[in-house]
Amino acid sequence: MQALWQDKKDREVGMKKIPVIIDCDPGHDDMVALVLALGNSRLDVKAVTNVAGNKVMEKVVRNTLNILNYCGVKREVAAGARRPLVREYLRTDTEGAHGISGLDGFDFPEENPLRCSDRTAIEVMAEVLRTSEEKVTLIATGPLTNLGLLIRAFPELCREKVERISLMGGTCHYILTKPFMEFNVFMDAEASKIVFGSGLPITMFGYDVTYNTLLELDFLKKLEKVGNRTGHMVSSLLQAFYQLHNKAWMEVEGCPVHDACAVAGVIDPSIVTESERMYVEIPTEPGPLSGATICDYAHRSGKPANVEVVFKMDRDRFQDMILDSVRALA
Ligand code: RIB
Ligand code: CA
Repeated sequence: MQALWQDKKDREVGMKKIPVIIDCDPGHDDMVALVLALGNSRLDVKAVTNVAGNKVMEKVVRNTLNILNYCGVKREVAAGARRPLVREYLRTDTEGAHGISGLDGFDFPEENPLRCSDRTAIEVMAEVLRTSEEKVTLIATGPLTNLGLLIRAFPELCREKVERISLMGGTCHYILTKPFMEFNVFMDAEASKIVFGSGLPITMFGYDVTYNTLLELDFLKKLEKVGNRTGHMVSSLLQAFYQLHNKAWMEVEGCPVHDACAVAGVIDPSIVTESERMYVEIPTEPGPLSGATICDYAHRSGKPANVEVVFKMDRDRFQDMILDSVRALA
């Protein structure tokens, strides 16, 4: 059953599906991003690609295949970069915010008929761009290594066929661990620098909006009450993530689902209630700012804005969107 707002939206845009590729590193919030995208009729998820981030490639691929299989969805899943372009991959074997598996809090079936593609993420991304009639939106919810490689390898193809990059990353004013620091951008600063400097349209869903749009704890119970497998899986995983996150990072009153924000903004850009275009750069020289997102929110740099930085989203509509996607899946 489609939400009324979505019926209206679809009529307005004549039901034209938006082709997207999701590049992710599941991760509990990547899982919500995948469920939200795969359960929404406005998106045509052409492929899912993986990047080492929250956990090593083997774990994020296994987690991705488990999520798709459990939700009853088939898509090509292709593995990409196992480490950043230049800097070392920061080992993530500790429990952290996602547990040891990267998706602690739910026991997926041992058996899973889905397999990772023989093709690499870059091959799949390039072919989707080449063969799509419409421009394709890239949704990035992990470190930007795969997107950096794609832009460097196929600059003209990206210029011609990438509609927009909607990424979860960076931070303007919000401080989680250190000023200007966010995991995805920091993990591969050199790739982030390529993406932010590419000239491609970028919408940045950083901590400013993601910590402003926490899922209500009662909403997690609503997900369980949907009564299907997907609702049970999402609810169980997010309840675990809420505990892990508060233990690993800091106490927040609600469940952050950073990555799903970058999907919601593609499904319906009007869900964004506050954003601003500004110049953003990523220092990569060694030092305390290496891997930061330096946002020129005072517009003092004299450099042209290259990013739309999102600050606020409509949390109630966001929750409704997630609920609708959960209902639409297995
Ligand atoms: O900083 C939040 C980001 O880092 C999210 O994408 C989360 O999944 C982790 O990858
Ligand atoms: Ca992620």
